[in-house]
Amino acid sequence: MPAPNIDTIVSLAKRRGFVFPSSEVYGGLGSAWDYGPLGVELCNNVKQSWWRWIVYDRDDIEGIDSSIILNRLVWQYSGHEATFHDPLVDCRECKTRLRADKIDLPEDGKGSGVAELIRQKRVKCPNCESTDLTEPRLFNMMFRTTLGAAAVEDDPTSLAYLRPETAQGIFINFLNVQTAMRRKVPFGIAQIGKSFRNEITPGNFILRTREFEQMEMEYFVKPDAEHLKLVDEWVEQYVEWFKGLGISGDNLQLHEVPAEELAHYSKRTVDIMYRYFPERPEEPRQWEELMGIAYRTDFDLRSHSSKAVDGEGTRINPDSTEDLSYFDETTKQRFYPHVIEPAAGVNRTVLAVLMDAYSEKTNDKGETRVILKVVPKLAPIKAAILPLAKNKPEIVGMAKAIKRSLQPVLRAVYDDTGGIGKLYARQDEIGTPFCVTVDHQSLEDEAVTVRDRDTWEQERIKVSNLAEHLQNRLKE
Ligand code: GAP
Repeated sequence: MPAPNIDTIVSLAKRRGFVFPSSEVYGGLGSAWDYGPLGVELCNNVKQSWWRWIVYDRDDIEGIDSSIILNRLVWQYSGHEATFHDPLVDCRECKTRLRADKIDLPEDGKGSGVAELIRQKRVKCPNCESTDLTEPRLFNMMFRTTLGAAAVEDDPTSLAYLRPETAQGIFINFLNVQTAMRRKVPFGIAQIGKSFRNEITPGNFILRTREFEQMEMEYFVKPDAEHLKLVDEWVEQYVEWFKGLGISGDNLQLHEVPAEELAHYSKRTVDIMYRYFPERPEEPRQWEELMGIAYRTDFDLRSHSSKAVDGEGTRINPDSTEDLSYFDETTKQRFYPHVIEPAAGVNRTVLAVLMDAYSEKTNDKGETRVILKVVPKLAPIKAAILPLAKNKPEIVGMAKAIKRSLQPVLRAVYDDTGGIGKLYARQDEIGTPFCVTVDHQSLEDEAVTVRDRDTWEQERIKVSNLAEHLQNRLKE
């Protein structure tokens, strides 16, 4: 049973230390969220799982970590300065800002286009129902900043952007990585990092924020590779990866992005969608993009290359000092590799994991308990060590010693801040797979009780076998 809606997760996340509204002491900052002690562990585990899968388990992908602020020319030649726009509409009545491409249009007017319908006063503000809306105007979503102490606000020579995707840091390093690591095409470059977009309508908790984290991989292939088929292959692999994170296949769906909605660099994009809005009665409105897999052609490598020319033989990029082409030793041909790009969001993955792991269970007393059934590898804490009597120094001492002995092999915590029932309930709610209880008998038989989060079954384990026992069960 996944969470019935995002609000359920917002409340759990705040109560239990996963995610807090940012800048709350000053009334918050729309759409910004801070990850708390458990949230940062969950994010790290998602990122680590991805990095292991993409970089370590395969032999054809390298990892990098590029700068967030790049030379402005990167964004000029990537096309982002000219095209990374959203159409913005304002309600003159209540000042609500809307994205023109997300406005619900009247059924019989869909062919006319949003601008025409606004002129005809046939579009209503979803907030106040006014039809007094401005015509759509394009708004560039890149955050601007200025570089250097002497820079004045509008000096174009010091203008820079916070990156809106991690991908460009990979493209401009293509040749560095390829030559330093002596790679042959096909191979990939992966990166995890923050990206920034001045979204017009952020919202829905961590689903759409202005600062977020991406896990992107650019896979470089030959120009005559079967690109469209490769997109399908990566889609399949990612669906399996998400399932391995505990996300049910029933809550995943594929969406072939229509040609008119493709990004300027893409020839084909398939989005993997997650059911973030199960409460919505209309099924098509339950889904939102979790990630996208795009065929970016050779657009980016050519755009950043000094020697690439357009159809008329004119250099595309007179500012670049490098040619990012590749020489194939076997065929003796030089070409710009084509790219398949799986681009996933850390925050959207975390939200999907939390929603899918959410479950409720009723105990013997008829009380409903929340259990976060996250897969063990993602659980922020793997084992909680709980003393049955916190006023008994021998029991407390033994519990703390067990915690310390487990720490080198798995993330363990010691907790004595409540009665055992409360402690179990808290650990269930944050997804801790095992609670280890130290009781009076433990002092005699050097054994502890291990309680399973999902079944609530308990077994007695010798302290000397505990680390191995937990490690084996965490692999299940
Ligand atoms: N390099 C390609 C690219 O950035 P994208 O579809 O714009 O593609 C990839 O972004 C992923 O990044 C999305 O599928 C989503 O998971 C995440 N993402 C994008 N914008 C986001 C936002 N405003 N808030 C949270 N995550 C976002």
